[in-house]
Amino acid sequence: MADVDVLGIVGAGFMGSGIAESAALAGKHVVVHEPEQAPLDRSRAGLERSVAKAVARGRLDEAGAAGVLDRVVYTTDIGGLRAADAVVEAIMEDPKVKGKLFQELDRLLPDARFLASNTSSIPIAEIAAWTQRPERVLGLHFFSPVPVMSLVEVVDAVDTGQEALDDACDFAASIGKHTIRTKDRSGFIVNMLLVPYLMSAIRMYEDGFATAEDIDEGMKRGCGHPMGPLTLCDFIGLDVMYAIGESLFEEFKRADFAPPPLLKRLVVSGHFGRKSGRGFYDYSGSRAAA
Ligand code: 3HC
Repeated sequence: MADVDVLGIVGAGFMGSGIAESAALAGKHVVVHEPEQAPLDRSRAGLERSVAKAVARGRLDEAGAAGVLDRVVYTTDIGGLRAADAVVEAIMEDPKVKGKLFQELDRLLPDARFLASNTSSIPIAEIAAWTQRPERVLGLHFFSPVPVMSLVEVVDAVDTGQEALDDACDFAASIGKHTIRTKDRSGFIVNMLLVPYLMSAIRMYEDGFATAEDIDEGMKRGCGHPMGPLTLCDFIGLDVMYAIGESLFEEFKRADFAPPPLLKRLVVSGHFGRKSGRGFYDYSGSRAAA
């Protein structure tokens, strides 16, 4: 069993950047790939901010911070991933786009320990089927914000090999994450439980049963959740919530997974939550906006 010293990441969004930060903090070298330069620049700026905050709070010294920044490199050239011992993909939730990417990664990295997808709900088997070596393909599902959340779901698909699973679990442990294993069903363990709860909160609000603030305060103060459900939807991204709900509904045909009409209306209107400035709340004033 070989260690993963160099991690490749495809996708420089919130999740990919968070995975890069966690891995670099644990001493790994990281190559982050995106075809466009702008998301890479945003990812780098985010890492610099996060590292500066860690120094200000006394969690990292100046040398440690410089080390983290040095260990993460960014490239628009997918060939840059050849240096990686393993890859985690964190791109848009589209099975065909992911499938084509894995086909390319499979060709590019014949010796990689594993090729993992951070998908929340797309079947790993469907992604693995695009490759010649499906035994190396598995799910590594991180939680947002990745540097703070200690969980990773390790998803074992029909053709995933034991060696790849063991290597992936060892890798996750080496960057300080706790792993739980799950079979390859849409939603895995956490979203299977979380999504019906979040969709119920949206339906409750849509029905006019209570205000967004009261629904959120109810779960924060009544159950000790760090964020209420509508704030959490805005944090995850309403487009992401919609895609996960659709995938779960398609897999199980159960109404509690189906995205409510209001969620669809917000998404088609470009209100994706915190990242677009408006979702259930308006982030210029933090009032209920939907
Ligand atoms: N990157 C790095 N560190 C971060 C961070 C980020 N993006 N966001 C917050 N932090 C750190 C802060 O620096 C701070 O650290 P410190 O105390 O050492 O300085 C600590 O986290 C707490 O942050 P804040 O004081 O700014 O704010 P809060 O105390 O309100 O915590 C939160 C923020 C951690 C996001 C908390 O509200 C929370 O846990 N929310 C719930 C998140 C959750 O449920 N995530 C799972 C989503 S589901 C998912 O991801 C699956 C997907 O498939 C949908």
